[in-house]
Amino acid sequence: MKTRHVLAAALACLISAHAALAAEPPRLVTRDGRHALLVDGKPFLILGAQAHNSSNYPAALKPVWDAARDLQANTVLMPVAWEQIEPEEGRFDFSFVDTLVREARQQGQRLVVLWFGTWKNTSAQYTPAWVKLDPKRFPYNLDPEGRANYSLSPFGEATRQADQRAFVALMGHLKKIDGAQRTVLMVQVENEVGTYGLVRDFGPAAQAAFEQAVPAEVLARQKPKLASTGTWRQVYGEYADEYFHAWAIARYIGQIAAAGRAVYDLPMYVNNALRNPLEQPPKPWNKDFASGGPTWDVIDIYKAAAPALDIVSPDIYNPESAQVQANLRLFQRADNPLWVPEIGTKPVYARFLYAMLGRGAIGVSPFGVDYFDYSNHPLGAMATDKTLVEPFQRVYRMFAPIQRQWAQWAFEGKTQGIAEGDDRQPQQLDFPGWSAKLTYRLGRFGEPSWGGEFAKPAAGTEEPGGGVAIAQLGADEFLVIGHRVRVRMEPAAGTTGMMLRAEQGRFDARGRWVMERVWNGDQVDYGLNLPAEPVMLKLTMGRQR
Ligand code: DGJ
Repeated sequence: MKTRHVLAAALACLISAHAALAAEPPRLVTRDGRHALLVDGKPFLILGAQAHNSSNYPAALKPVWDAARDLQANTVLMPVAWEQIEPEEGRFDFSFVDTLVREARQQGQRLVVLWFGTWKNTSAQYTPAWVKLDPKRFPYNLDPEGRANYSLSPFGEATRQADQRAFVALMGHLKKIDGAQRTVLMVQVENEVGTYGLVRDFGPAAQAAFEQAVPAEVLARQKPKLASTGTWRQVYGEYADEYFHAWAIARYIGQIAAAGRAVYDLPMYVNNALRNPLEQPPKPWNKDFASGGPTWDVIDIYKAAAPALDIVSPDIYNPESAQVQANLRLFQRADNPLWVPEIGTKPVYARFLYAMLGRGAIGVSPFGVDYFDYSNHPLGAMATDKTLVEPFQRVYRMFAPIQRQWAQWAFEGKTQGIAEGDDRQPQQLDFPGWSAKLTYRLGRFGEPSWGGEFAKPAAGTEEPGGGVAIAQLGADEFLVIGHRVRVRMEPAAGTTGMMLRAEQGRFDARGRWVMERVWNGDQVDYGLNLPAEPVMLKLTMGRQR
């Protein structure tokens, strides 16, 4: 009798602990400068699929789910537009949001909601007509001659209030329909903000603010250049206009995000059209990117002005490997989780998934993957069909069964990853005790030093395409995931050691390792040659006594 009571009590405890865990909202956590997105209390890796800009209608959803399933994605990134939820001022229509959330659950997908409000790619095109048609109430940026620019002013107080009301209504609705089930993981507030062609608003309210002292919270983060205090011009010189515009936009979005979170507290982020990350030090704005957007040089201004935003994230549309690597470095910070909500869909981008997931990104998403008869070529793939999905699916399917585990390892700092460079040169990843030496364009048998055919680049390697992500599971144990790369795991400089066993296998649906064969002989004599199709290897290394 007594035992039964104890058991029942233990069970009740377990059930309530589980309920508490399941009810926990998605949130970001940081430890030792690394980050994780906790979903139902555990790290979650977003293998995302971003829909096209015009796929946010019930009838357009089927091709989204089809592509997301083919991709083996676990999360769909979907716009919700201001014009769509508030076609008339004060009248809200959440029918699309209801359909979206219901169908996502049926499909086993999570969601990231993209709020297309005041700014979408810097323009007002997703605002309702009643906003677009009333520039007196909802003013545009003015140039120094007082001429209106195409982009809404961050000093439009009525615009901010109206956007905020709509956003708060959206968050309230999400809480109502999803507060228990947590299908929606994060919210992007606006889309690729900033202004092209004009460095800042020169309207009266903006000008008055520009002549004020730089706020202390900005000074504390964005290093002063000319004077430690004073006006924007006095402190930041020729960078003042861009920095000021960044502050104004960040403050505007930060207020909207804070109001939304007060109603329903989900992680929130902004994305951005990048400036060249290789221009070091960055030059003052010169019509070469969207001024005021959250480019890497002003992340600190966004952190200061918009504490309600958790992440400033890069949209990656330049496949030059040096640029991609630099962007990953610049946006991955102790105060900024790496999250890549958009990456181009040309096949050359797929290999960068290894670099992102290996570095510990909370997730990644190719942009415009749903089977809608539209292609953003030459930015993305030629056609939006299975040929687009396939290169990304090959990598996603390796991570999909272990996404929780991988996110946990990444949070613990056990993972690294890299993509083949455009220079095709060897690379190296260093782990405690061991180094992975990586070479590209080699066949699977023999050494190039043998000359003749052995020295020729392997067929199918005309374009850079290789990559690898490695997790160190124990002092001498590694999980290697990759394709089109030769991996030699070697003892760290000054030590000796050898590979004892290389198992090729996979993880089953329950996360258990299933060994398929042991690589030995030809398969290890010339390093571990990961083929064009991604593979997973579990390595056991050892050292002689
Ligand atoms: C980046 C934007 O964020 C997307 O919404 C889209 O417009 C792409 N550029 C281009 O296809």
